[in-house]
Amino acid sequence: MSKTLNIILLGPPGAGKGTQAGLLVDTRGMVQLSTGDILRAAVKAGTPVGKMADEIMKAGKLFPDELMAEILGEHMDAIPLEKGLIFDGYPRTAPQVELLDGLLASRGRKLDHVVELVVDEDALVERIVGRFTCASCGEGYHDTFKQPARPGVCDKCGSTEFKRRPDDNEETVRTRMAEYRAKTEPILPIYQARGLVSRVDGMADIDDVTKAIADILGA
Ligand code: AP5
Repeated sequence: MSKTLNIILLGPPGAGKGTQAGLLVDTRGMVQLSTGDILRAAVKAGTPVGKMADEIMKAGKLFPDELMAEILGEHMDAIPLEKGLIFDGYPRTAPQVELLDGLLASRGRKLDHVVELVVDEDALVERIVGRFTCASCGEGYHDTFKQPARPGVCDKCGSTEFKRRPDDNEETVRTRMAEYRAKTEPILPIYQARGLVSRVDGMADIDDVTKAIADILGA
């Protein structure tokens, strides 16, 4: 059995955080905590949080730090301690780093790795604009890089319905990237100072990125 690890996948929009998190869930039995997915579920449910998130996400801006941490904490509480966590899209600001420290410590968890997916920003626009997911199970695909084996049929659940994210247009993607550069990139030195950061070439093939992450995490 794999050791219980708590890790952060860090990288700009389209770097492959969600793709790799999904694979870690399948191979290591870890639990993916995607703050983007959590907010999208709230939007779908039409809750007050969802209404607020909808506007912010469509603009490519960031949801407020304190409220994001409160929501994430509720999700963490539902996960047994023996399950390792993958933070996908969290933290994204310096205050969120501190908030995550508190969320982990108060639940008796510690952070083991921060995996930085190093990518070429221009290529990411193509990745994001071509992305789609299964409307039923959420499996991710791409017009060019990852089509279902049978066209129009989800590999994982057999559904024939697919969807695209409303914030996956070029203009919003550029704003999301600017937010990443301004607010998220500056958190890397904090984790570097703690000796937690490993860099992975996020431009490599999906399988090679997976192998590089597996080497970092160990057995
Ligand atoms: P979020 O949902 O987290 O989006 P993001 O960070 O912009 O990242 P993405 O999901 O777009 O990309 P990804 O890195 O997961 O890439 P993927 O694996 O899908 O956040 C959305 C919004 O929510 C934010 O803008 C903000 O408003 C809000 N939000 C979320 N968290 C927040 C927080 N903590 N605080 C405040 N606000 C928050 O891959 C992309 C595509 O490329 C896929 O099609 C995939 O198949 C393909 N691909 C992946 N890897 C490769 C590869 N190696 N080679 C070729 N293709 C690949």
